[in-house]
Amino acid sequence: MTGAGSNPDTAQLLQAGGAHIPSALAAVEQLLAEAGLGSGAILEGHARATISAGGKRLRPLLVLLVAGRPDREATARRLERAAAAVELIHSATLVHDDVLDGAVLRRGQPTVVARGGREMATAAGDLLFARAFALLAEDSDPAPVRTLSEACSGLALGELLQRADAWDPTVTLERYLLRCELKTARLFEAACRLGSGGAGDVDLTGFGRDIGLAFQVLDDVLDVSGPAERTGKQPGTDLLDGTITLPFILARERDAQLAQLDPREITTAAQAQEVCERIAATGALDAARERALGFVHRAQQLLGARAEQLGAERHDALALVADGVVRRYS
Ligand code: IPE
Ligand code: IPE
Ligand code: MG
Ligand code: MG
Repeated sequence: MTGAGSNPDTAQLLQAGGAHIPSALAAVEQLLAEAGLGSGAILEGHARATISAGGKRLRPLLVLLVAGRPDREATARRLERAAAAVELIHSATLVHDDVLDGAVLRRGQPTVVARGGREMATAAGDLLFARAFALLAEDSDPAPVRTLSEACSGLALGELLQRADAWDPTVTLERYLLRCELKTARLFEAACRLGSGGAGDVDLTGFGRDIGLAFQVLDDVLDVSGPAERTGKQPGTDLLDGTITLPFILARERDAQLAQLDPREITTAAQAQEVCERIAATGALDAARERALGFVHRAQQLLGARAEQLGAERHDALALVADGVVRRYS
C-alpha cells in the first residue's frame, strides 16, 4: 500500500478524523519530501526513494488523530512536524532493519541495502534519524525530543534483542513479546504521546502500546502467510534471518517435526516457503491472530473508557485505527 488515503479503510478513516486531517497529512507529506534535501545526490536519492515508496503513514496519522482539531495555527504546524518526525524515525528504522534482517524488498521496492549496500543503508538511515530530530528542534519544547529519543532507544534495544535471540527456537513467549514491545509498540506509544501532548489532552499511550503489539504480531503472521504483492515485503524473511516469531513458537508446540527443526537449516526462499506452509498447517497463524486480537480488544476498551473525554470524532477515528490494524490482516 502506498500512502495514507490509498485504500478504502484509510479513506473512511480520514473522513472520520475530521475535515482538518487530509490537509494536515498533505503538510506532513511535504515535510517528508523535503527531509532528505541538501545531503548530496546519492544519499538524498536513497532517502527520497524510501519516503516516496509510500507506506501506510499509520504513525503520523495516530499523532494527528490523538491530537484532534488544533485550535491554533501554531499548534497545527507543531503537530505536523511531530507527525513527520515520527514517520522519519520509522523510515530510518526500516532502512536499518533491512540491513539487519537481510531484507530485499520494502514497500514493494528493492531495499536501500539491496540497491546501495550496507554502508549506504547505514548512512541513509542515519540521515533520516537526524532529520527527524532537526524537525523537532524547530520548536523550543524538549518533551517531544525526549519522547522520540526514548522510543529510538527502545527500538535499538529491540533490534539488539532480536539479534541476541536469533536462531534460538526455544525463545519464550515473554521474550518475544518484550521484543515486540521494544521494537514496535514503543514508537506507536510515542506517536500517541506526541498527539496527547500536542493539542489533545487525553493520555492514550496505553492504546498506542496495545495496537503496536497487535501490529507486530500480525506483521509476523504476514511474514508467514502474506504474498509480496500485498505486503510489499518478501515472505519468509524472518525464518531466513533467524528471527523466531510467534507463529513459529506456537507451531513448534503443535508439530513435533517443526519442534526438531534447526532454523539454521533454512537457507533458501523455497525452504522458507515450505516451513511457512507447515507452520500454517498447524493452525498457529489463527492462534497468533487471536493473541493480536486480544491486544486490539484491550486497546478498544481503553478507548471506550475515555470516550467522553475524547469526544465522538476522536474516539470514532481511533476506534477505526484499531479495527484497521486487524482488518488489514484478516
Ligand atoms: C513495518 O511497519 C514495520 C513493523 C513495525 C512491522 P509498517 O507496516 O507500518 O510499514 P509501512 O510504513 O506501512 O511501510
Ligand atoms: C519491525 O520488525 C521492524 C522495526 C520496528 C524497525 P520487522 O523486521 O518484522 O519489520 P518488517 O517485517 O521488516 O517490516
Ligand atoms: Mg525486518
Ligand atoms: Mg516483519
